[in-house]
Amino acid sequence: MDAYVVIGNPIAHSKSPEIHACFARQCDQQLSYERLLAPLHGFKASVQVFMRQGGRGANVTVPFKLDAHALADTLSERARLAGAVNTLKFEHGRIHGDNTDGAGLVTDITINAGLALGGRRILLLGAGGAARGALLPLLEQRPAELVIVNRTRARADELVAGFAEYGPLRSAALEQVEGNFDLVINATSSSLNDDLPPLPPSVFGSQTLAYDMMYGRQPTVFMQFAQQHGATVRDGLGMLVEQAAEAFLLWRGVRPDTAEVFDLLRRQLSQ
Ligand code: ATR
Repeated sequence: MDAYVVIGNPIAHSKSPEIHACFARQCDQQLSYERLLAPLHGFKASVQVFMRQGGRGANVTVPFKLDAHALADTLSERARLAGAVNTLKFEHGRIHGDNTDGAGLVTDITINAGLALGGRRILLLGAGGAARGALLPLLEQRPAELVIVNRTRARADELVAGFAEYGPLRSAALEQVEGNFDLVINATSSSLNDDLPPLPPSVFGSQTLAYDMMYGRQPTVFMQFAQQHGATVRDGLGMLVEQAAEAFLLWRGVRPDTAEVFDLLRRQLSQ
């Protein structure tokens, strides 16, 4: 049976085995998918052992996405630009690295939430790994503009310098942000600490989708704030499921239907 793993540290909380088991059932694919805890300084060795055992591919999560990028023999363009890898495919002893996070985000927004992004104004909060991974897939949707705001402005400027050739991208200080946006994405890690990134409520209008890449039992503080100011809100559970579907497609050549597993995970979160 073809074997896959999700590698991280910690890893016990990962929902990926459940998601991929559901996809495999649905698509009639025979495969195993387990959690693999790698030592903090042992990512490469753990991948090599798994490959020697006949492993076919892996998802990679915190804190190893940069190590996976460095380890891959070949990279997709989106992984190269993201500077991080969340999906590995092993073929003939070689390692191919991809990054499906940004595509997962865009599918969740455009298909599941039904917001077409062509010609829209997008505000992206944050300039870390999560924001970087989203940039190319978002710009490929041809928004009217994409504005990056980050607590540390210099990091937003670096992203703009790296991605400006792919679309209408600029950074801004919060006080320079004018008018409301069709889409506001929280790609900061502030929700982990129940913090709200500083934001003028004027960025939200009645047509705004406020999207937090995080998810949990309760709406994040960012979602609560956005909702109070008239926006429609969505958390990152759909992004999680869609990035997994994109990885499954890369490995197995078929795209699973994501609605079933999304509903299952949502029900579990509300129990
Ligand atoms: P990730 O891979 O999750 O993106 P990261 O690379 O450490 O993690 O980036 C975290 C992002 O969240 C950064 O944009 C960070 O802002 P700084 O660049 O100024 O550090 C942002 N961030 C984290 N906590 C925040 C908070 N409380 N308020 C605003 N931004 C925050």
